[in-house]
Amino acid sequence: MNFKNEFVDVLVQVLDGQLERNQLLKMIEKPRFQDMGDMAFPCFELAKLYRKSPQSIAIEIAEKIETPLFEKVEAVGGYVNVFLNKREVSQKVLNEILSEKEEYGKLTLGNDQIVTIDFSSPNIAKPFSMGHLRSTVIGNSLALIAEKYGFRPVRINHLGDWGTQFGKLIVAYKMWGNEERVKENPIKELLKLYVQFHEEAEKNPELNDKGREWFKKLEDGDEEALSLWEWFKEESLQEFSKLYQMLGITFDSYHGEAFYNDKMDRVVEILEEKNLLEESKGAQVVQLAEDLPPCLIKKSDGTTLYATRDLAAAIYRQETYHFAQSLYVVGNEQTLHFKQLFSVLDKMGYSWHAGMVHIPFGMILKDGKKMSTRKGKVVLLGEVIDEAIQLALNDILEKNPGLTAKDEVAHQVGTGAVIFHDLKNYRQNDIEFSLKDMLRFEGETGPYVQYTHARAASLLRKGNYQDSEHALMIDDEAWPVITALMSFPDVIKRAFEGYDPSQIAKFLIELSKAFNKYYASVRILDDEVQKQARLTLVYSVKVVLKEGLRLLGMAAPEEM
Ligand code: ARG
Repeated sequence: MNFKNEFVDVLVQVLDGQLERNQLLKMIEKPRFQDMGDMAFPCFELAKLYRKSPQSIAIEIAEKIETPLFEKVEAVGGYVNVFLNKREVSQKVLNEILSEKEEYGKLTLGNDQIVTIDFSSPNIAKPFSMGHLRSTVIGNSLALIAEKYGFRPVRINHLGDWGTQFGKLIVAYKMWGNEERVKENPIKELLKLYVQFHEEAEKNPELNDKGREWFKKLEDGDEEALSLWEWFKEESLQEFSKLYQMLGITFDSYHGEAFYNDKMDRVVEILEEKNLLEESKGAQVVQLAEDLPPCLIKKSDGTTLYATRDLAAAIYRQETYHFAQSLYVVGNEQTLHFKQLFSVLDKMGYSWHAGMVHIPFGMILKDGKKMSTRKGKVVLLGEVIDEAIQLALNDILEKNPGLTAKDEVAHQVGTGAVIFHDLKNYRQNDIEFSLKDMLRFEGETGPYVQYTHARAASLLRKGNYQDSEHALMIDDEAWPVITALMSFPDVIKRAFEGYDPSQIAKFLIELSKAFNKYYASVRILDDEVQKQARLTLVYSVKVVLKEGLRLLGMAAPEEM
């Protein structure tokens, strides 16, 4: 709710229909300072039309405006500034939330079209990295936001389950592996083998040829290679599922790279038909515009590449889902890959490539440095999240030992802290990993927002709030809370259009701060006359906080 439409209604009347609604809607601005009003209409264009000064037009318009929605209208510097009538507006906003509940802010801008979201997409037999965590958390939130925007999201986990590294892993396993040990601790053990392979290959480069040989066998369907690969894949997936379960994240498709094995010949054929394939040092490539290196499609030994599989996947997704948009939530370091991918599809004549977007993000740093998985030095994410949950539990035991659902709440707060810490930053920024910062109850953290929600819930319990249909007149102190509540639909719009969940996180902080300030200055339950009206506000805040948290992939505990 932003009352722009209402302002436009008034302007259409005042201007006798001389400018169109859509045009007017685009012209309305937010004044730079709050004391200049809630909305502003610039008169510079009309000034040209009428050959008058903008200010004199602003004065004329201001004089003609008369509606209970505005309590003041001013002409300043060529703008018509309007001040919303707080009581009227508050009532309208609260009534809308009361009737729509968690549907409040739902948009229809996506027209029910499909958006595919490729996110998380970890690599089999390797640890789930911090980068994959970012992709998982950002992608999941974008899927939820897309839905709220009116799209139908399809969540795809494009598992890294194919490629030369599996040839290497098979070689390593056959030389040094042990079935029991892998079963006991699959990711750690497989990583060890992989690292060992690289160390040995430095001394003995022939190992690399062996690795390539085994990958070729895998691509050709060799039984031994395939069954080892299946096994590695199963073990890894089990580990990844634990993490997804912890975070409450699900996917619609787990089609990874291997799924496209039998779909690549067709891609190569189409490329040939369209005369796009060229030979270069025995390999097959597609030449791209000058600023992009050629895209490698087939190596000289006939094996395919990451890019080939992504081409097949893009075409498959368009044919299967007829997506309006296709998003790839993948780190900055793959920017070139996606540029090449989109450019090849463009060359192939697929106009739908225009709906494809790479959504990059920065790194997670530890003490200012990149957290690396190389050389087997890994941070195991499951352990990190377990630790966050444990710390949250300690906190609860200290602050609220009487709480009944301690473990459940600790889980919600611990995972929520990790998620919020990531999403409150604009995704392109690097973030410093610090459990201590994440779990603080004050400042801009997940627990702070969750705690505010729990506080609202507790007020409703204490005040014996009954679902009401209509908002009552609320005091002026509530205005900052109302303006925050009222911006929610716009925030959702911006969050999707910028593929930027941090908009929602920042909004939640702002709403929480406004509400906590109100809570500190107004005795909500003490004044019998005002109590019902105030509880309605508390209820509205609770609904919107919960919905905002949900859009980030977080739970909203009733008690904390
Ligand atoms: N498995 C890849 C990695 O970990 C990410 C895959 C992203 N998705 C894609 N369609 N390429 O780097």
